[in-house]
Amino acid sequence: MLTGQIVGTGSALPKKVLTNKDLEAVVDTSDDWIVRRTGIKERRISSNRQQEDTSQLAAMASQEALEMAGVSPEALDMIVLGTATADRQFPSAACLAQKYLGATKAVAFDVAAGCSGFVYAMYIANNAIAVGNCRNVLVIGAERLSSVANWEDRGTCVLLGDGAGAVILTQSTNNGGILSTHLASDGNSWDLLYSSDRQLDGSQLPEVLNEVAQSPSYLIMYGNRLFKKAVSCMASIATSAMEHNGLTADDIKFMIPHQANIRIIRAAADRLSIPMDKVYTNIDRYGNTSSASIPIALDEANRKGLLKPGDNVLLVAFGAGLTWGASIVKWSLASA
Ligand code: COA
Repeated sequence: MLTGQIVGTGSALPKKVLTNKDLEAVVDTSDDWIVRRTGIKERRISSNRQQEDTSQLAAMASQEALEMAGVSPEALDMIVLGTATADRQFPSAACLAQKYLGATKAVAFDVAAGCSGFVYAMYIANNAIAVGNCRNVLVIGAERLSSVANWEDRGTCVLLGDGAGAVILTQSTNNGGILSTHLASDGNSWDLLYSSDRQLDGSQLPEVLNEVAQSPSYLIMYGNRLFKKAVSCMASIATSAMEHNGLTADDIKFMIPHQANIRIIRAAADRLSIPMDKVYTNIDRYGNTSSASIPIALDEANRKGLLKPGDNVLLVAFGAGLTWGASIVKWSLASA
């Protein structure tokens, strides 16, 4: 049976750090409230003066993953990029990343699944490998959420950050790799998290945000109602993924969840009976980077040597759509 194995990981973050203290000058908030309610201490924000838009961050993360994998850009058959904040409506961020990488033989396209974009992209990539259509696939999650933030809404702007993560999936006949991926969607609840046309005047932004890009649309979220959905959807789809593979919580070495709120992560892990020392989090440093959060966390865990060949790694996401998904990966990479 053909399956995709992760043979390289990478990530890229903008240089500018925006702390909770910085945000106290932007909206009526406090470091204490943000840390207590979300677990976020700081986030990275792309600058208009640096090469840090979504597709550039995607290409930087991909370069790292390609180097680790020892795969050349020309050997890529497909690039699948999960994002809600492509640089332009068209072309796709994936095609721009393809250009930056010189991946001339790859088919490239974006996947729109909100914060679940990376897990959705993994599903497509692994299926393309399983049916024999592709040998090497680059899977990316990349976002510039700062461009869709409403910097007047303290309930949302404090949550968001920018960044990108990537993995290389390579066709293998060995046991392991992506064991299975499970996806779900609920368009009936689309209006809990969506984008709307911006009415704000970008020139009013405070000094600390002077290099931030402003997209014509901005994010609206009903956080309270979403919170409960996020916990139950993540827990139920992760349970389905474990059951499908005959695994229990004890068999999971690491859970790498979407980083939306530390309280959501704790509650989902609790429902799954997975202790927090087996859950990788970096939300304190990067905030919610949407579809980039899982691959950034995966790359960090890999580079820290936390993942060993044979480990079962549970990826679980939730986001706008609503969309959610879980994937179980039998880790096959020796420590980076
Ligand atoms: N600083 C200070 N006070 C704030 C604040 C901020 N940044 N944001 C909201 N508040 C206030 C509210 O105005 C409200 O005040 P009130 O009681 O006087 O009306 C109070 O804090 C509580 O607001 P609430 O929205 O109920 O807080 P919460 O505990 O639900 O936390 C979120 C808000 C957004 C952090 C939380 O709901 C959340 O993380 N939601 C889910 C996010 C998610 O799943 N995203 C989707 C996946 S990407």
